[in-house]
Amino acid sequence: MRGRFIVLDGVEGAGKSTQMPRIADWIRKRHGEPVTTREPGGTPLAEQIRALTLADQDEPLPPMAELLMMFAARSVHLENLVAPALDRGQWVLCDRFVDSSYAYQGAGQGGRDEPIAWLEAQIVAARQPDLVFIFDLPVERVMERVRQRQAMDRFDRADTGFLQRVRDAYLRRAAADSSRYCVIDGAQPVDVVSRVIIEHLEARFA
Ligand code: TMP
Repeated sequence: MRGRFIVLDGVEGAGKSTQMPRIADWIRKRHGEPVTTREPGGTPLAEQIRALTLADQDEPLPPMAELLMMFAARSVHLENLVAPALDRGQWVLCDRFVDSSYAYQGAGQGGRDEPIAWLEAQIVAARQPDLVFIFDLPVERVMERVRQRQAMDRFDRADTGFLQRVRDAYLRRAAADSSRYCVIDGAQPVDVVSRVIIEHLEARFA
């Protein structure tokens, strides 16, 4: 049987990385060893594209170039890691996916959705996630958590307006398709969040 494709996405600092290993454990016990991965990145080549895209450069990266790089990384990742794993019957747990492009390159940067939707149709096509958890947190909390981090990349220095547009875009996309999306309140204690996610997984993939 084909594996399942589970995505964790949402604003920074809302607890995705804390929940990843817990969800991986749940998958491991029921469905065998999952592939845990991330975007942009996940394979050596896609990680190189990630490093190029996120690094602080003296030369500006035009918004369309940034979008294309996100999708270049996504294409490599899907073809070389995600799709083969799903075909083998392995489950894939991925930190960020196409919703990040709509949220950051689209809503956040004021880019149009059309080019994103076109790239999604070409590159992702039918390989859509089975379930997407959107980790949500008020923007003030996102700013606090981002400031506490040691290393900052180009994307972390965004202002409140930008982050608000990013957050709103995630929530809008989740609301438009409740069969595939589940919004997680990242302000809750870590164990509560894990329980909510596991309950959702149990109900969904029983
Ligand atoms: P991470 O630090 O959570 O792994 O994410 C790296 C950054 O990349 C984060 O600020 C969100 C951004 N990003 C996009 O802007 N578009 C995308 O399509 C993806 C996958 C990530």
